[in-house]
Amino acid sequence: MPENRGYALITGASQGLGKAIALELARHGYGVLLTARSGDALRGTAAEAEKISGLPSHLLEQDLFAPDAASVIAQWAIGLNVQLTCLVNNAGQGLWGLFTVLSAKEQLDMMRLNMAIPVALTHALLPALQKQPRSYLLNISSMTAYSPMATFGVYSGSKAFVRLWSRSLRIELEKGPVSVTVVCPGSIITGFTQRARMMAMDQLARKFGSTPEAVAIEAVKAMLKGKAEVVPGLLNRITAGLQGILPVALNERMASSIYLKHLPERGAE
Ligand SMILES: NC(=O)c1ccc[n+]([C@@H]2O[C@H](COP(=O)([O-])OP(=O)(O)OC[C@H]3O[C@@H](n4cnc5c(N)ncnc54)[C@H](OP(=O)(O)O)[C@@H]3O)[C@@H](O)[C@H]2O)c1
Repeated sequence: MPENRGYALITGASQGLGKAIALELARHGYGVLLTARSGDALRGTAAEAEKISGLPSHLLEQDLFAPDAASVIAQWAIGLNVQLTCLVNNAGQGLWGLFTVLSAKEQLDMMRLNMAIPVALTHALLPALQKQPRSYLLNISSMTAYSPMATFGVYSGSKAFVRLWSRSLRIELEKGPVSVTVVCPGSIITGFTQRARMMAMDQLARKFGSTPEAVAIEAVKAMLKGKAEVVPGLLNRITAGLQGILPVALNERMASSIYLKHLPERGAE
């Protein structure tokens, strides 16, 4: 069994990247506190993690769209009286489409899930993390944070927020025990495309996407090394590097054209 490193709370741990990160953390000796809405899937992750780490897993079925979701999760985690040494803000969702076609409500809900929930949860749990000699905050952003992107603007904006907030908070906390890392993955083969209604781009995502396990390995490694930011995958790192050199006007045209080209509404025009 790996050496016990305390407990990690992971949001969106029922499937995809959140599940893979939970299991990777278990391999590194963390017990896991898991949340999402799908109870059966959460129980599956919990059982797998227990087998790996030898530590009891805990889970909470919680809809993050509920108004008091962050405080319910924080109180549950604190009430468990475990040593909380890691928080992973992973749960998130995309929404693909023209801004005027997508409803205001679904875009505002996504902003809440991707931005307000991580902020509220982090604010509530930082005092517990700061009590530990060494602890970690791992926030999941996206490569979409690096460029404006037509048809994905509110999502990419929400992920740019996660990236900038994470890096800012890291500087504020650098003299203390909490290390902040932000992960900016490219495409990952998960349920994300279906939830984001991006089935027209599913083939592309599968062709160029990484497995959640590969992303989780790089994310956890970067976190434990105390890195500020990581883009998993060599090809993605090269792309992100180029995005940093090219003019924004060129970047945004190139990024937008791929998404616009595949949009069913546009194809029908
Ligand atoms: N897949 C990609 O290409 C990609 C690329 C870059 C970044 N990311 C980011 O990676 C993170 C994980 O996404 P994924 O690819 O693993 O997607 P996924 O397979 O759709 O998983 C999303 C997870 O979030 C949970 N979740 C979604 N809405 C929720 C809600 N209202 N309340 C509670 N939990 C909720 C889901 O659990 P339940 O449905 O059981 O509640 C699930 O566990 C997201 O932040 C995403 O933006 C993904």
